[in-house]
Amino acid sequence: MVEFKPFTKIDKASKEFIDPVVLSYVMLKQKIIAVNKRAKLVNCLNHLKNKSVEVLKQNSILYVVMKSIGSKWTIRSIIAGTLIIAMVYETKDGVQLIGGLAYNTLSKEIYPKNPVVKYSVGVIPIDALPDNIKVYIEESLREKREEKPPYIWVNKVLYDLYIEKILTDKGAYMYVLLGRDKFEHRYAVKIPREKTVDGKPLAVNTNTNALNEVLKGIINSLEVYSATRDSIRKGLASKGYDEYYADQLILYRKYILRPRAIIMLRTSFSDEEYLESPPIILEDYANLGDLDTKIKSKPLDQRELAFLAVRLAGALALVHINHFIHMDIKPQNILLIEDGAEPYGYAPLLGDFVGLPHVFDSIIELKKSTPEYADPIALVRGRASYNYDVYSLGITLFYAATGKKLKSRILLNLLTLKNIYGTPVPLRVFLVENPELVQYARKLEALYHEYNSKKHKMPVETFVTQLLSIIEDYDREQIKIIDKALPSRLANIIKKSIILNETDRYQDSVSIWLDLLNSIKELGYTNLIPS
Ligand SMILES: Nc1ncnc2c1ncn2[C@@H]1O[C@H](COP(=O)(O)OP(=O)(O)O)[C@@H](O)[C@H]1O
Ligand SMILES: [Mg+2]
Repeated sequence: MVEFKPFTKIDKASKEFIDPVVLSYVMLKQKIIAVNKRAKLVNCLNHLKNKSVEVLKQNSILYVVMKSIGSKWTIRSIIAGTLIIAMVYETKDGVQLIGGLAYNTLSKEIYPKNPVVKYSVGVIPIDALPDNIKVYIEESLREKREEKPPYIWVNKVLYDLYIEKILTDKGAYMYVLLGRDKFEHRYAVKIPREKTVDGKPLAVNTNTNALNEVLKGIINSLEVYSATRDSIRKGLASKGYDEYYADQLILYRKYILRPRAIIMLRTSFSDEEYLESPPIILEDYANLGDLDTKIKSKPLDQRELAFLAVRLAGALALVHINHFIHMDIKPQNILLIEDGAEPYGYAPLLGDFVGLPHVFDSIIELKKSTPEYADPIALVRGRASYNYDVYSLGITLFYAATGKKLKSRILLNLLTLKNIYGTPVPLRVFLVENPELVQYARKLEALYHEYNSKKHKMPVETFVTQLLSIIEDYDREQIKIIDKALPSRLANIIKKSIILNETDRYQDSVSIWLDLLNSIKELGYTNLIPS
């Protein structure tokens, strides 16, 4: 019976299920969706499986009653997804078989004959079930999950590393696990997902170059990390800066999160290969989590902000003088690692170099973007340069200092993604949470429609200017909160990083870094400068 599998505790769960109190409860709470339908058993099971998988997504399960024509036997069952949680087999004389035995009779005796059956189906939310059966359903769901990545690797050994736990399975590209070697050293073990969260093939059964792209991004981060004084000098000169800064900038390599090891045996893995020997990337384990989590608990004071800002700007400067654009600077991609040599006892690490593209002409097509941190005008134009990263860093620092994000900018990005890129975005949720923005959204969206409908008539310049004029006043008000949080020298640097008009912004991270160094000296925080 390929459609379903029995739950490992089907016997125990079935005993609970035939308790008259439980059974009457189930019958009472169900929403009936089919009554006495007739079908060949195989078709019936297929229909049940589709329905069951569908309702499980809404945290519901199926109660199914199946009878032979002539009612010689009746099978009652609770089904969650593709798992049979409980089953009983009855005849006119009452209950005959419970749990595994009932399942065997169905799969070994009845199923091969594929008879026509009558069946009725009810849907019940898991939460509405009595506790003694609910615990089994929850356990079965846990079991089901543990059969799949990334859970399947936990408490196992992968290439000589013992996998202790999952750090996150929420990343767009990577599962991130915690691994330990024989010497008790800990590492972040990153495994590219089977597919990216938006469904594009990545590690499993791909015929694309996706895994190579990931590899390339990671190798690029190694290249940035491996910069020498000489290469930094050349990079600075090529961007018109004084080569003299190379002696300082080289100290910022330590804030680049680089791979310690990469094992990628193929460019596409079969399911089996993926489970047994998946592609992995080892990194130092950032034991203090990411910056987003830290800021959520408390925004930084001005001194700690200066400490963080100068390190991130310096690290990003190294990326830029190597002619790379990071393209995804945000608090979730900045990791924190304990470090007794640092003023605050930790070092920030710039991570997630998956998309890191090389730029020779310093302008690049826009590939990925996070609505909160993407430069809105670059997104509209579909082109980005180094100042794209400058913008994202600026918003990150704004958030670090205030705990707030710029809603005017998020709104623009959501509307652009929706109306220009056709990407599904949570615009409605955003507007429900921020009702004061509804009026702006309405005006802006009308403008997007106009732009879309007469594309050749409205030049992008005009479009951008009009967009900005709608949101300008609101935007200006929002930005003011940074003046309360920081001394004006620091606030002004952040404001200059997030100017919407890119020509008035810093052009790359070297210039933010230099400005930060100066203002840190003026504020008397000289001991915060890496040395
Ligand atoms: N080296 C690490 N140490 C600790 N946690 C990490 C490490 N690398 C990533 N993480 C966590 O996993 C998340 C996702 O990792 P990331 O490299 O950003 O992959 P993705 O491309 O999927 O976003 C990060 O936001 C962070 O919370
Ligand atoms: Mg990330």
